[in-house]
Amino acid sequence: MSIQLDEKIPNNVDLSSDKRLQRALEQWLPNYLAWWGDVGPEGWQAHDVYLRTAISVEPDGWAHFGHVKMPDYRWGIFLQPREAGRTIGFGDSLGQPAWQEVPGEFRNMLRRIIVTQGDTEPASVEQQRLLGASAPSLYDLRNLFQVNVEEGRHLWAMVYLLHTYFGKDGREEAEGLLERRSGDRDKPRILGAFNQPIENWLDFYMFTMFTDRDGKYQLYALAESGFDPLARTCRFMLTEEAHHMFVGETGVDRVVTRTAELMKEAKDGDVAKAGGVPLAMIQRYINLWFSLSEDLFGGEISSNAADFFAAGLKGRYKEAQYQEHRALDGSYAMEVLENNALVKKDIPLRTAMNEVLRDGYIDDCQRAVDKWNRTLDRAGIAERLRLPHRRFHRQQGIYAGHPFDIDGQSLDLAGWQAKRDEWLPSEADKAHIQALMQPVHERGKIAGWVAAPSKGINGNPFDFEYVRRS
Ligand SMILES: [Fe+2]
Ligand SMILES: [Fe+2]
Repeated sequence: MSIQLDEKIPNNVDLSSDKRLQRALEQWLPNYLAWWGDVGPEGWQAHDVYLRTAISVEPDGWAHFGHVKMPDYRWGIFLQPREAGRTIGFGDSLGQPAWQEVPGEFRNMLRRIIVTQGDTEPASVEQQRLLGASAPSLYDLRNLFQVNVEEGRHLWAMVYLLHTYFGKDGREEAEGLLERRSGDRDKPRILGAFNQPIENWLDFYMFTMFTDRDGKYQLYALAESGFDPLARTCRFMLTEEAHHMFVGETGVDRVVTRTAELMKEAKDGDVAKAGGVPLAMIQRYINLWFSLSEDLFGGEISSNAADFFAAGLKGRYKEAQYQEHRALDGSYAMEVLENNALVKKDIPLRTAMNEVLRDGYIDDCQRAVDKWNRTLDRAGIAERLRLPHRRFHRQQGIYAGHPFDIDGQSLDLAGWQAKRDEWLPSEADKAHIQALMQPVHERGKIAGWVAAPSKGINGNPFDFEYVRRS
């Protein structure tokens, strides 16, 4: 597949051979740039930022690193190459040739999937727009902007699909993606966690750890899609997404590292007074962002999930790991609330697909928590971090609206209210974190509440000039 990097919109989809599509996307480009200027990162637009840019889809050299001003970033359209003879790997159409055009009967469903995924990409840029002002280091500042420009590119990826395969209503949906705003009362983003404010850098690390990781599982499920262009788009997006989760997972680990140091150094072990984030506070931020991100998987029992699977549009994480790909006869044992009591029930497997995907996600999150606990262990700290139970603090699905404690035990409203500030960030926590958010924009320096990373980006040291005045 040939790569066209010099065009107005870099791409490997032979855009210049379809003049109408090319024109439509070139018309969308200034609207996109206007959106970026309005609600993209505040400040820093005239600085040179050390960013990687996608220039191919080859596993060994897909990215170019260099200093670039964010508005000049080359947002491109890149799909993984077409695999000859690819067939649909699950659902009712198992074994049939993968679709290169939208199957008419699934058109609405498919458009909804693409719009929902697409909506999350600009939303996160909006959520993170003010963080540059309080970055703990130039390294972090650069990582923030790397995540932001790539979420912008992911928006491009979804808009390409809408413009190419969905005609007029696809173009209207693409406009809508630039019109909704995270947290806006009248025109909010589609999913809950993408309307939550990301007010500080602890939120940012938690978001890239937990919420981008939901994205990983959604993208893997869509990378299985029988609609081939969607599958190929998502596969390439996953390449970039890995760095976002790295920023989150190592970001939390660096906070934990610094907290452990302060626990030993500080007088009376008072981490807060010593300018750090106490472990209990880190735990509350884990509880918040893990539960918000779990909600993104949708209801535990879901006819939509069953329809998406049956249609061959959205599969399971690495579908090839399963023996049986129709999932018609299987069931999933789940604890369901009935008359305020938890009862074990067997749910038809297809309607439990959201929960199957969430299982993999929770295991992945637990792996990261185990890593943070090894950091504590190495530092000689006995306390441990944990994930709350999956029923804790849910606003979507069968456990929503019912209070559960951190271990998943049912409790009454008074019991919940008494414990709320022990489990979720309190106003006092937020004020403490806010007070720590003093910017460190000096080369090679780091804020006092977080440890420096063990290495820099692309083989460069931590004290590299990741962001500079041009
Ligand atoms: Fe993304
Ligand atoms: Fe991401």
